[in-house]
Amino acid sequence: MIEYRPLRVALLGAGSVGAQVARLLLENKAELAARVGAELELVGIAVRNLDSKRADGVPAELLTTDAESLILGADIVIEVMGGLEPARTYILQALNSGADVVTANKALLATHGTELFDTAEQVGAQLYFEAAVAAAIPIIRPLRESLAGDTVTRIMGIVNGSTNYILDRMDSAGLTLEQAMAEATELGYLEADPTLDIEGIDASQKAAILASLAFHTEVPLDKVYREGITKITAEQMIAAKRDGYVIKLLAICERIAANEDHEDGVSVRVYPALIPREHPLGAVRGAFNAVFVEAVAAGSLMFYGAGAGGVQTASAILGDLVSAAKRHVAGGPGLADSVHANLPVLPIDAVNTRYQITLETSDAPGVLAKVASIVADGGVSIETVEQNADDKDTATIEIGTHEATDAALTAVVNHLAASEVVESIISVLRVEGI
Ligand code: HSE
Repeated sequence: MIEYRPLRVALLGAGSVGAQVARLLLENKAELAARVGAELELVGIAVRNLDSKRADGVPAELLTTDAESLILGADIVIEVMGGLEPARTYILQALNSGADVVTANKALLATHGTELFDTAEQVGAQLYFEAAVAAAIPIIRPLRESLAGDTVTRIMGIVNGSTNYILDRMDSAGLTLEQAMAEATELGYLEADPTLDIEGIDASQKAAILASLAFHTEVPLDKVYREGITKITAEQMIAAKRDGYVIKLLAICERIAANEDHEDGVSVRVYPALIPREHPLGAVRGAFNAVFVEAVAAGSLMFYGAGAGGVQTASAILGDLVSAAKRHVAGGPGLADSVHANLPVLPIDAVNTRYQITLETSDAPGVLAKVASIVADGGVSIETVEQNADDKDTATIEIGTHEATDAALTAVVNHLAASEVVESIISVLRVEGI
């Protein structure tokens, strides 16, 4: 039975996500009211321009350009306008007026999260953001709630759908990076500014959000190590396939135990890496996302699904809206996320990983021994070596290393590049998931 007063919901933004939120909210009004115990009344939709073309299902009579008045009268504000400003100002206004906020804005959370969460805590409101990472895939709630009693040790995710599509087409159809990017652009998968995707910026924002939740630690975006996919070649794809790997853009958040060089810390990083084709993330095709979580008691968990799309993102937003509305009905302050652990975010140098290094060398006596001695002198152990001589006077040597620090591996690559027996470094990729 519905006894609570209707809850006033304000929507900021009527783009591909906002339009779907409005549609689902209106179409499922009765069912949502029954689930919450109060009616959810969409009181207005703030847009920049009333005359812009809108998707079907956005009621024209709810549109307004006066976001501030709309926010002041709302119990719950949904922000799906994107960008840093005015989204940040509007969310602060909403929280300061006592409203709960639901947002899908990963860039804003990764950049101004501390300010927004602190404000929410001070006023007893709550900020919900399930849609900010991997859209429809429930990953924020599992980290925030389901795994709250466990210790997460590592998260390895494919959290950017457009780059996964591009890499998958290079792998499965033999396309070049440019051809695959043209396809992704045609399909509308890339952000308006594609560098956000292909330079790994979007993935690094999501990694910062996941790591801060998993490790109860503030993770500033500038501490996230980042490499994009722009240097991945068709030749690297072919070599990866031949060796039983696939190249994926990975977002990795990891606890790193103290050693003589550093204290206990976390590493948050994004880069393209080789993973075994049989790894669960190796099976993530097309524009799909997946997040692989390892926790001490739970073991390995995999969350998989659509990481983008208007209606898929709206699903996560509606879930947050129901949570926010139930909290209003039940009463009590919002629950802040803890950053008590306050672990340092360590530089990439401290990370243990493996490299696969492909070199073109002169084909003469002692070359392999010289290459092996450079690797050994760097304190790195070789796991596999494969040499292919071609018709010229050169040979291609592919070295797979055992685990070593990224600092040691980088130093080895630099020494190899400077060696007189090495003509060129063809490829350097990290290997993960082994
Ligand atoms: N550009 C993002 C992606 C959209 O490709 O996954 C979802 O955040």
